[in-house]
Amino acid sequence: MSGRRDNWDFADLGMKETQDSTHFFHHWTAKFIPQIPRRVIEMYARPGDVVLDPFMGCGTTLVEAARLGYDSWGTDINPLAVKIARVKTARIQHARLREFVLWLEEAATDPERHRARSARLFEASEEWFRDDVARAIRAILDSAKDLGQNTRHFVEVGLSDLLKGMSNARMDRTIPAIPSEPEYTDKKHYDRVVNNDTRAINPFARLCAHLRRMHAALCGFHAEATGKAKPFRRDARKLAALGRKAQVAVTSPPYWSAQNYQKMHMLSFRVLGLKEPGPAEIGRRPRDYLPDMDAVIAQVAQVLDGHFTLVIGESKDGIHEAVRDQCEGHGMRLLETFRRRIINQAFFAKAVKREFVYVFRCSA
Ligand SMILES: C[S@@+](CC[C@H](N)C(=O)[O-])C[C@H]1O[C@@H](n2cnc3c(N)ncnc32)[C@H](O)[C@@H]1O
Repeated sequence: MSGRRDNWDFADLGMKETQDSTHFFHHWTAKFIPQIPRRVIEMYARPGDVVLDPFMGCGTTLVEAARLGYDSWGTDINPLAVKIARVKTARIQHARLREFVLWLEEAATDPERHRARSARLFEASEEWFRDDVARAIRAILDSAKDLGQNTRHFVEVGLSDLLKGMSNARMDRTIPAIPSEPEYTDKKHYDRVVNNDTRAINPFARLCAHLRRMHAALCGFHAEATGKAKPFRRDARKLAALGRKAQVAVTSPPYWSAQNYQKMHMLSFRVLGLKEPGPAEIGRRPRDYLPDMDAVIAQVAQVLDGHFTLVIGESKDGIHEAVRDQCEGHGMRLLETFRRRIINQAFFAKAVKREFVYVFRCSA
């Protein structure tokens, strides 16, 4: 294949490249570096093709497809993922957002006057957020209610990205956990001492800065992106019922050892009042993993007429090979296998050092 490049490590990339465009809006565990779906789309998509990501996560594939001029769709079971993917690709009311950012700027200089009276964010939220922080977050959410839907979601996603860092949760845990004392040592960040009672947290100022960056990036995205992105909240085991087709699919499935996105993002679910995905999240129970993956692959085989690229972590138990074989079992023909070192993903780097990139030809 012309233009093929065999090295998929992308070892020389820094945050500037892996978090460009709208990719930095919100953290998402095990998200793609955008260079992976981008390369797949560049290698296999032809003009007019539609791109699919059945485990879309925070929408990395959809963003890259749109930037390269392709329409795309994706599914994810997690409502927060879908909200993030929408916010990264949707149009907003710029004037209303600017007004909102100005209000935040003013509130940041005089927080006491702008905080809400109520500190209630969800049941027992006082455990998770200091009173002054909770009242500022309440004021932000109340004020965002007046915005149009897309603009409100934009603000909520910006806020969601900052929630854990403004909460009492330990900074050195992926799943939010309250330290036994307000003062503790953050083992992930140079053993610095954190004191939840006294540390400076100005939610208005933090959100103001984040939204300004996000807004500039969204304007840049819309200036270059000509493809339309359609993120759906849906179980990938039922994606064919959407009645959509695709010619290029690229995805990285959830991990098989009890990865729990619901717990990782529990503060966002509670503060934003989102419905939790529950047991439909694949990977919660290792013994269901392969049957669940088989069901998803069967659905992809129904809607895809073209190339399917599966990016999956290397497992000492050979699970990646079992999933590869499942694809072949559904009539997909293996064209290429690449093995990449995972260098740019902080979370996975510890647990999984390498992943496989399998490219199949699939005729629906
Ligand atoms: C490794 S992440 C994908 C990350 C994505 N490539 C990105 O760049 O953000 C796997 C995703 O699968 C989703 N997932 C888990 N079970 C699912 C299901 N039954 N249907 C659809 N998505 C599911 C999780 O919510 C998670 O977002």
